[in-house]
This record gives sequence, C-alpha cells and structure tokens, in this order.
Amino acid sequence: MCGIFGIITDREQPLGPILIDAARRLSYRGYDSVGCATLHADRTIDLRKDVGKVDDVAARLDFAAMTGRRGIVQLRWATFGVPSQINAQPHLDSAGEMVGAHNGNVVNNVELRQQFSAEGMIVRSMNDGESCVHAVERHLRRGCDMVEAIRRAYDDLEGDYAFVIGRADDDRLYAIKKSSGLVVGLADGATCISSDLPSILPLTRRIMRVNDGEIVILHPDRVELIRVADGEPIAREAEEIVESMAAAQKGGYAHFMLKEIHEQPQVARELLHLLNASAQVAPFLDRLANARQLYLIGCGTSYHACLLGAVYLAQLAGRPAIPILAPQFIPQGLPTVGPDDVGVFVSQSGETKDVLNALYAARQRGMTVLSLVNVIGSTLMKESEIALPMACGYEISVPATKTFTNQVLAFLYLALRLGKHATAELARLPDLIQETLTAAEPQVNAIAPELAAWDDLYCLGYGATYAIALEGALKLKEITYAHCEGMLSTEFKHGPLSAVREGYPVIFVSGPDDVPLLVSGINETACRGGHTIAIGEDDDRLRANAQTLIVLPSSGPLLSPILAVLPLQLLSYQLSVARGYDPDFPRNLSKTLTVD
Ligand code: AGP
Repeated sequence: MCGIFGIITDREQPLGPILIDAARRLSYRGYDSVGCATLHADRTIDLRKDVGKVDDVAARLDFAAMTGRRGIVQLRWATFGVPSQINAQPHLDSAGEMVGAHNGNVVNNVELRQQFSAEGMIVRSMNDGESCVHAVERHLRRGCDMVEAIRRAYDDLEGDYAFVIGRADDDRLYAIKKSSGLVVGLADGATCISSDLPSILPLTRRIMRVNDGEIVILHPDRVELIRVADGEPIAREAEEIVESMAAAQKGGYAHFMLKEIHEQPQVARELLHLLNASAQVAPFLDRLANARQLYLIGCGTSYHACLLGAVYLAQLAGRPAIPILAPQFIPQGLPTVGPDDVGVFVSQSGETKDVLNALYAARQRGMTVLSLVNVIGSTLMKESEIALPMACGYEISVPATKTFTNQVLAFLYLALRLGKHATAELARLPDLIQETLTAAEPQVNAIAPELAAWDDLYCLGYGATYAIALEGALKLKEITYAHCEGMLSTEFKHGPLSAVREGYPVIFVSGPDDVPLLVSGINETACRGGHTIAIGEDDDRLRANAQTLIVLPSSGPLLSPILAVLPLQLLSYQLSVARGYDPDFPRNLSKTLTVD
C-alpha cells in the first residue's frame, strides 16, 4: 500500500511545502521511502527521494525548497524491491524527460522490465512504479501522444494500480486508475490528484471521483476525463466533500477498525503479490526446512497466527513447529535451543518488548531469527536474518485485524511452498474475503443486539479453527470489555460447560471437516439452554443443531479458518459500538506494548 499525490498550478511557485504536507497525510499508507518531483517551465525535472520517514527525508533533501508548476510526491510501502533510494519513487523515463509514481502492484513487473531493457530503455530499479513510466515511454517512442500512450500502457500493465505522470515538455499532469484509489481535487488556481482524500482536503473540498479505466488530464483550472476503452471524453460533475478530515482519514468509515477490516481483500492481494515476487521467500523456506526445532513466537493476536501457522505447517509440509507465547519461550524453549534451531518471530508492530526479549535471548543461543512483521524499519525487521513484510500499510486501530489475516495467509503460503504444493488456489482468497465480509455483515448485525446484553460468553474452535476461536475471543474481550474465553471445543465439557444457563451465548467456529465434533459441543450446550452460534460453511448439520449459523462461502479446510475470523472481527466491532465504546482505542490498551 503506497500513496501518491500530484498537483498542477497556474504559476511557478514553491511546491515543496504542499508536497510535504500531502506526504504527511499519506504517510499512514506507508513510509519506508518518500520522494518528490517538480517539473519546471525550463523543461527540467527536480527529483529528490530516499529511504526514511517523511520529515527526515524532507529535511535531508530540502523538499521545502522545491518549486515549479507541477509536482508529484509518493510514499512507498515496499512490496516490489527492497526499501532503497533507487527503488524509491517517483521514477524517471530513460532520458530523464518524464517522471511518474504509482500506488499498487504491477504483477507482470519482472517481464516488463526485461522487455523495456530489450527495447533499449534504461531500467534503473526493481520497483514496479518505474514500469508504469516506461510503459508510457514505450508508446511515446512508437509515436503516440501522451493520452494514447497512457491508454496503451494501461493494457500492458497487469494488476491493481493508479499512477500520476508528467513530461517536462508538456504543461499538464496525467493520471490513470486501475483498481487502486484515485480522486481529483479542484482548487483555486490548481488541480490535484491523490490516492485518497486526506491529502486533498486542505487544498479544496471540491472533488471529482475517478473510476477504473479512466485517464485524468490535469490543467491548472480544470480536468478532463478520458475513457481508456474508446478514448472518448467523459463528463462528470464535481462534488463538495462535507465530511471532516478525521472522517476522511477513516475512508468514510466510522472507525479505523472497520476501514481496516474492509481493507483485508486488498492487503491480502498485495501480500500474495509480494510473496510470489520476493527473493526472500526461498531462503526463508530453506531455513524452515532445515531447522532442527522450529518455534513460532508471538504475543496476542500474533500468537494466534502462530497457532494456526503450526497447524498449516504440520498438515501441509509435515513440519513440526512449536507455537509459543514469547515470554513463555524463555523458560520453556530457550534451554533446549541452539544454532540448529529456528524461530519465526511474529509481530505486526515489530516493537513488542515481550517478542524482542525472546529474540535477543534466542540469538544468544545461536538460534536463527526469522520474522513476519508489518512495520517496515521496525526493530524486529532490523534484527531478523530474514523478515517477510505483511504489506498491510499502517494498522492504526489497536485491535489487530488485517495484520492477523495477512500473518495467517503468510503461514499458509509458506506451508504450501514447504510442502511442495501449488499456491495458486490462494489467489481466490481476496475475493473470498470480500464475499465473506459482504455476506457476514447483515448476519452479524442481526445477532449483535442480543449478544450485546451479555458480559460473559465463550468462543470455541477445533483444529485449524482453535486459533480463530482464541482470536475472536480476544477481539471481543479487547473492545467490548465482556469476558469472552476462547477454548478448544472439546475442552468445554471438561468443566467450563458449567457456565451455561438459559440463553448463555457460546460461539462455535467450525471448519468444513470438523462439523461432527462441533455438533457434539453444540448439542451439549443447547440441551442446557445455551444460545449456540455457529460460524462455518453452509452445512445441514450446523443448520439443524445450532440456533444461529453465520454462513461462510464454501472455500475448503485451508481457507475456511481464515474466513471464519471475519464475522468475529465484525461482531466484536458491532458489540463495541453498541456498548458506546471506541473500538479503535479501547481503555487500558495501546497499539504497541514496548514494556514488559
Ligand atoms: C491484538 O488485537 C492486540 N492489539 C494485541 O494482542 C496485539 O496482537 C499484541 O500486543 C501483539 O502486538 P504485535 O503483533 O505488534 O507484536
């Protein structure tokens, strides 16, 4: 997930401060590197970019001093190409006469870079944003004008992206949209374009929405829209934005948590793109395969990802792995580990002290340190021999949602690869996540009012859904403040069943292969008056035995557990809001726990 912003003004002026402010507002989307480019009337391009956070790079490269009539800024969250100055955006064409930047993923980036080099273009980086510029350059070289070159580049570039581009000898800016966000701002004496609203609102509240397959031509006083399919102009009315900046930063959702829940299809897609392209995956797998002992180490939600990861590794690769809470690793795992052992440390923030304590102790014993981590540049990323990024962009809401889904997806991908299985079936997961969110929301809303009255409930799972039950229970505890205990469904009868009384809610998370076992638990609860709520694929046995069934799309035993967490995320969110709490910032908690 990256961020782009472009602006064209009616006169030469200091653009640096505007670009810096836009960059700051986009930095929640990613910041491992940032770059600005301004285009001048004398046909020169001033391009400044580097690795690091916005304010650091802006000061180091003096963004504030940049002037011109046209400007572009890009915030990068690395997927293609490691964070580096050369991979930072924006990028130049071969002759340095055109500059552009993208947000998204060009899935045929590797092939295109080879083609561009063979066609005599100068390819400088690994980054797919540069491929967007060369794709336009290719067709300019073949005699097309700018709009036609962009139209044809659209078909060359496969994947989800939006990019903004400008030529030194052309006094307009151009942009195009293919599945990634893009919105136009119409200000006095300027027009601008961005990945999303927050970077536009300080300049104007008059906006124009852009659809996939549309090219935007920006002039200082107006914009033109061109349809890629036939090259014809599109008429579209501008609209006034009334929502606040805070609401805009939430993408129109009431809370960051709901926005991040709904970002899961996109970030899952971006992670798959990264894992399929990353040169780090092979050596990561090699260390997993050759480990004497393999520990999966995390806290909270990240620990729950470890639990499911261990099931995937066992079932798909025959690889034993010990999931363990980071602090417990020290008394229980550390005495047994040495240089032949491997630890996969899982943390979205990469700063959780419990995790880092375990890491430093493990390294003292010579253990290999691998990690799954979301925040680029975090301590865990720096301390790992190999770190795989989770490609979620910033997760702002304290309750982890999209980072959990991508953690378990990463484990599933690694387990399939380790077991020499194809990973192609994972490509349908983003759409299945979307389908689940769409189907689950009304089902969850239907039961939320009844559950909101309960301060005590259980969430049970088995096998691959055991981790999901624990994660759902944590979400419910974390933001509704109800006591919800997650448990192996078979354990419920060994004591906790005594909690059940008339109407008592017990949630059963069922994988498609575990229905008979879950039905036993459902009946043990139902016959004692409990309110049984099942989450699972449509199954007559679940329908016949559970009072309520939240139906998941059919996806099979590997993907179904991942989909099952989505209704639990939505349910915890709805119950939190119903209780009048702020799900983004629950009491007593913080997003990153850098203390013991
Ligand atoms: C999850 O919703 C909680 N915010 C919490 O359990 C969190 O997962 C835990 O603190 C670990 O954080 P990390 O992934 O950043 O290490």
